Amino acid sequence: MSSPQPKTTDTVPSSNADWQARKTAAIARGQGNIAAVYIDRAQNAEMWDVEGRRYIDFGTGIAVCNTGHSHPEVVAAVKEQIERFSHTCVMVTPYDSAVRLAERLNELAPGASAKKSMFVTTGAEAVENAIKIARAYTGRRGVIAFNGGFHGRTLLAMGLTGKITPYKNLFGPFPGEVYHAPFPIPFHGVSVDQSLAALKTLFKVDIAPEDVAAIIVEPVQGEGGFYAAPDEFLQALRKICDEHGIVLVVDEIQSGFGRTGKFFASEYAGIEADILTTAKGIAGGFPLAAVVGKTEIMDAPLPGGLGGTYAGSPVGCAAALAVLEIIERDGLVARAAAIGQRAGDRLDALQKQHPEVIGEVRADRGAMLAIELVKNGDAADPDAELTRQLVAAAYENGLVLLSCGVNGNVIRMLPALTISDELLDEGLDIFGACLAGLI
Ligand SMILES: Cc1ncc(COP(=O)(O)O)c(C=O)c1O
Repeated sequence: MSSPQPKTTDTVPSSNADWQARKTAAIARGQGNIAAVYIDRAQNAEMWDVEGRRYIDFGTGIAVCNTGHSHPEVVAAVKEQIERFSHTCVMVTPYDSAVRLAERLNELAPGASAKKSMFVTTGAEAVENAIKIARAYTGRRGVIAFNGGFHGRTLLAMGLTGKITPYKNLFGPFPGEVYHAPFPIPFHGVSVDQSLAALKTLFKVDIAPEDVAAIIVEPVQGEGGFYAAPDEFLQALRKICDEHGIVLVVDEIQSGFGRTGKFFASEYAGIEADILTTAKGIAGGFPLAAVVGKTEIMDAPLPGGLGGTYAGSPVGCAAALAVLEIIERDGLVARAAAIGQRAGDRLDALQKQHPEVIGEVRADRGAMLAIELVKNGDAADPDAELTRQLVAAAYENGLVLLSCGVNGNVIRMLPALTISDELLDEGLDIFGACLAGLI
């Protein structure tokens, strides 16, 4: 029998520790938190906790607040929207902002083919819908994803995810007809040729290519460790999909909206996805996600087959239209590339100082930066403990950092694209000092 619910008081605790104690008692442990830091307010690239401590934010709520926290124009657009109405359901009585946003996304998605969009609320839902659409279009069942890929926490998205801990432990059985192939990571000795050879083997031993509805790939693996798919790999997948009538789904949920120095990261490889999923950075902190794809594919499901009560909420659409305007007007795609260059130079210098612990710096995808920590300079010897300590030390010193990677040994940096050079440098100084203090 569970113990009786502790009585809550309405007094507002003033410390992070007090809130963490209440959180632990009230919220299921599965919904963990990296740091016991309770945010009181946030502005652009800085946050302040309930104890008044200030943090430089290199996490942006996991690649969401690309235009910074509470951008005044996003706030104004949202306020204006909620004063008019906050919800009617786009599937009942729609509104112009959803149509305008779909038109903009159809233009922005790479490639010349005519496109259509549909909206949902979260990234996982976008992935689920992309697969539903691919199955409806092809009449096939199979889906191929990649080792280390992350596509969300709902059952199908989790099945597609190629990383067990903490996403898949205890949650099986998983949906059928999902297969995983190796993702090319030169640092870990997996070449593009090896990945493609494994895919060919999969077609021989697990599922015939003519039974495959979709191949889903992140152009830069996010949770898996911030590994950019080599251009020739994405180009080869495009070719394989064309040869076999497979729908190529490019998951740009973490890599999209200017983050990598292109509007969508798949632009680096010059490929056109059949279906692209986007979420996170799309609406500057409001829950919104979209599936954008070639018209004939997107129109395969029957009317009413796609959607959701809050799909394409007017508040999210208003925020997203403001985000798009800010990205374009303020040149934030180019700014992401400049952030990557500036931080990359600093991190490369740090690697030269500490080659035994920094195995690799990945700074060729704009403001989606990674530092892989190893023991004795050996790529095969990940240092998850140092990574954990470094993230903790950064919080102690006022810097929000996230980790990732199948082995938990990658530090990721995802600053707002609106961060100033001064704040970026200050955050990197803290990072360097914390690392030096631990090794
Ligand atoms: C590449 C990718 N796909 C899908 C998702 C799932 O998005 P959400 O958490 O909004 O469901 C994420 C989230 O981190 C992601 O990075």
